[in-house]
Amino acid sequence: MSIVYLVSISIILFSNNQVTPCRVEECAGWFQKTKDYENLVPKATERYCQVLQTYLKCMNDTQRFCHGNLRFHSSELVMRRHWKEFECEKWESCNDSNPNKKRPVNTCYFNPPPSNRKIKYCSLFGDPHIIMFNGSIQTCSEEGARPLVDNRYFLVQVTNKNVRGEALTTTVTKVTVLIRKHNCTSSLTYEATSDEEGLPRGFVDGTTYQMIPNSNSNSNSVEVLWQDNNYVEVSLHFIHSSIHIRRQGPYLSVSVKAPTIVLETEGDVANELCWTGCRKSAQISAEKAIEKPKSFAECYNRRVHVLKKVAEDRCKNVGTSGTFYDACLFDLMFTGDDYLVQLARHAQSDFRRLAPHHIQSHLIQQRVRIQKQSSNNETETFQKCLPSASKSIISSAFLAVILLLIPMI
Ligand SMILES: *[C@@H]1O[C@H](CO)[C@@H](O)[C@H](O)[C@H]1NC(C)=O
Ligand SMILES: *[C@@H]1O[C@H](CO)[C@@H](O)[C@H](O)[C@H]1NC(C)=O
Ligand SMILES: *[C@@H]1O[C@H](CO)[C@@H](O)[C@H](O)[C@H]1NC(C)=O
Ligand SMILES: *[C@@H]1O[C@H](CO)[C@@H](O)[C@H](O)[C@H]1NC(C)=O
Ligand SMILES: *[C@@H]1O[C@H](CO)[C@@H](O)[C@H](O)[C@H]1NC(C)=O
Repeated sequence: MSIVYLVSISIILFSNNQVTPCRVEECAGWFQKTKDYENLVPKATERYCQVLQTYLKCMNDTQRFCHGNLRFHSSELVMRRHWKEFECEKWESCNDSNPNKKRPVNTCYFNPPPSNRKIKYCSLFGDPHIIMFNGSIQTCSEEGARPLVDNRYFLVQVTNKNVRGEALTTTVTKVTVLIRKHNCTSSLTYEATSDEEGLPRGFVDGTTYQMIPNSNSNSNSVEVLWQDNNYVEVSLHFIHSSIHIRRQGPYLSVSVKAPTIVLETEGDVANELCWTGCRKSAQISAEKAIEKPKSFAECYNRRVHVLKKVAEDRCKNVGTSGTFYDACLFDLMFTGDDYLVQLARHAQSDFRRLAPHHIQSHLIQQRVRIQKQSSNNETETFQKCLPSASKSIISSAFLAVILLLIPMI
């Protein structure tokens, strides 16, 4: 018990990272950060005065611990001068003696930027493979529309469709991003479908950005950063989140990068692909399929379009490695489609560019673990095989029924 007590005391004492009780650095740090996030310049604006007032209150509260602290006295002096010069009292929201003092409504405050540890990344690409928030990867054959992520700020919905008319061959054909109304933005929708010529340059309503409301700063809270027909980023600056959409031929892929605090603002995440992955019945063991392509193809009624050796050369040549190499192999062997090779390559470069380091190393460790497991298990074969279509017409009718049923399972 005494240890717990000591630990909590030391947490209280040292959590401020401050040896002296004078909190001038904290006040100054908060002020600086707020100025940066909101792009504030020292001017006679209501918002600047509000921030100044909070800063002066912070300083006043710690005043008695700061006797003789040069930094305290000099910055307090400067701020008090600003306060006078900008006539901050004249704003109702800053005038303490005003009995009708009220907070401004609908003010857009940017979230503080999160530390790298608190950032999550999720990616859906290829035939499709999903890298989930917890760093696990799955290969799926689930058809239909499902939320990838869904929270108080935005929803990303993906539609997975059977392509090429082959059993269990599915890819992303539609991505919808819904940005929910907030003090920092109105409601906006971005929509990409694979049958269009290229990715749209803006939201459905034709706009490409959203200025921060009630603010005279000229930074955007939300914007569409269109690079070319095949790559677009929808950036939600006010919550430090971004959605990255790629297109290759008739296929789409999508990645989401966001802080945990943003992602966890909805109670139930059970339906979101990035948190829970695909249904068990729709998961495919891609590692085993690559190892035993013939038995995989027979079991699931698919074709080996490209021999393993050829696929290995191609996937190495485009520079994929690790998990993305596996995905590339699987997609190329069982579809023969080079667009999917390109998607795997881009998914890898996005992952390396956007995912925080701890997630990257997690993915590498996971792959090693999975490989060990499957190489230790020679006896395991594929389960729940589909009846072969070539055997008879009846069995292909049966297959069609199964395929129809899959989305409902
Ligand atoms: C500053 O702090 C003192 C107490 O330490 C308090 O009486 C005074 O009202 C405060 N002034 C402001 C402007 O907050
Ligand atoms: C602050 O509010 C009080 C009370 O409403 C008012 O008398 C005073 O004039 C205001 N100060 C300024 C500078 O507007
Ligand atoms: C919008 O601004 C108001 C007033 O500043 C604040 O009370 C409210 O919490 C804000 N809403 C959101 C969603 O941040
Ligand atoms: C990640 O989440 C999925 C789905 O809930 C689960 O099957 C998997 O074991 C998790 N992986 C890790 C490393 O926790
Ligand atoms: C091999 O796979 C089967 C089926 O998934 C499993 O029950 C068994 O425990 C595995 N054996 C080893 C050695 O991992």
